[in-house]
Amino acid sequence: MAIIDPNTFPYIDPSKDRRVALITGGNSGIGWYTVLHLYLHGYTIYVAGRSRARVNKSIDELKEKAAKIVSNYKLEEIREERYLGSLHFLEIDLFSLSSVQNAAENLIAKEPYLNILINNAGIMALPYSLTPDGFEIQMQTNYISPFLLTTKLVPLLEKAADLFPDEPPRVVYLSSVGHHFMFSYFSLDSTFNYFPNILFTWLRYGMAKTCGIHFMKMLALRNPRILCMSVHPGFVMNTNLFSYWTRLPIFGIMFWCLFQIFGYFFGVSNERGAYTSIRCCLDRNYNIQKDNGKYYVTDGSECPPSYVARNMDYAARTWIWTVKKLNERNISIP
Ligand SMILES: NC(=O)c1ccc[n+]([C@@H]2O[C@H](COP(=O)([O-])OP(=O)(O)OC[C@H]3O[C@@H](n4cnc5c(N)ncnc54)[C@H](OP(=O)(O)O)[C@@H]3O)[C@@H](O)[C@H]2O)c1
Repeated sequence: MAIIDPNTFPYIDPSKDRRVALITGGNSGIGWYTVLHLYLHGYTIYVAGRSRARVNKSIDELKEKAAKIVSNYKLEEIREERYLGSLHFLEIDLFSLSSVQNAAENLIAKEPYLNILINNAGIMALPYSLTPDGFEIQMQTNYISPFLLTTKLVPLLEKAADLFPDEPPRVVYLSSVGHHFMFSYFSLDSTFNYFPNILFTWLRYGMAKTCGIHFMKMLALRNPRILCMSVHPGFVMNTNLFSYWTRLPIFGIMFWCLFQIFGYFFGVSNERGAYTSIRCCLDRNYNIQKDNGKYYVTDGSECPPSYVARNMDYAARTWIWTVKKLNERNISIP
């Protein structure tokens, strides 16, 4: 499949056609480039992150980069009337369910509708630990908190569906090819805190990313006016996702070399890693009838996810398990 060119997707004029997007983890890596291109396309973007300082720094860098790109527009691009959108910080810490709920409430207080939600933030292959809410950290960050955020924002997404009937609101979930590590449908209560953790941590990552694909499939079924898609962005080796491993004393340098060699042969740049998300957000050829619940990989190619991830019985069980676990923490999901 050819490399995606984000310039081919429609541009909007925010003074006439205001469109609102929220992205988690937009301050680094794949998220940063996803924000850049939505901003260049005229979107009002909430960059949700746990550190105001880091997000605001990235907003300054994004504005600088966008200004540079705009100053190099060719004549026909200027004629197309391309406008920059706007960038705003929204506080969210996915380690905390109450922070996730506050973020959803804050957005609902600020915006009458939401056109695009990108569950991009994630962590990978960290040592075993529990969040203050009692979930394994990869499970909560990569799946449970995005589930909570999205379900709380469904009313805003539905409002966008009312207001723009020809443009379904979209939810994009950053999964990973690592979802294949969940090769069987294990009990979701398993935390796989076994020796050697360096292997079992991948099972925990794979489990969370499989649940995310289940989530997109179930959301698509339950909310047929919302276009829901999951994504494997490619192997993008120069993001912060690998920093736990590359910063390890002594062994860090070995992991860094290993990741660089792997990236040289199989990897894509941070920007190209964002292209599948960008396509899922902006490509008007994607529609509810043919694309809802699907999984896309590098450069926007459609791909069947693993047997476990595409099994709808398992997807329904994952949904029920998640709602029950949230209910036990006094959070109700409609
Ligand atoms: N890179 C790859 O090869 C690859 C492959 C497959 C899938 N993915 C998926 O792509 C997504 C983006 O990854 P990336 O490679 O761009 O990694 P990254 O540079 O590490 O970006 C991850 C983002 O998530 C945020 N985040 C982490 N924990 C958070 C928390 N508790 N609350 C709020 N935000 C939090 C980080 O914020 P801070 O800056 O505050 O830490 C950061 O902005 C992830 O979901 C990842 O699993 C990546």
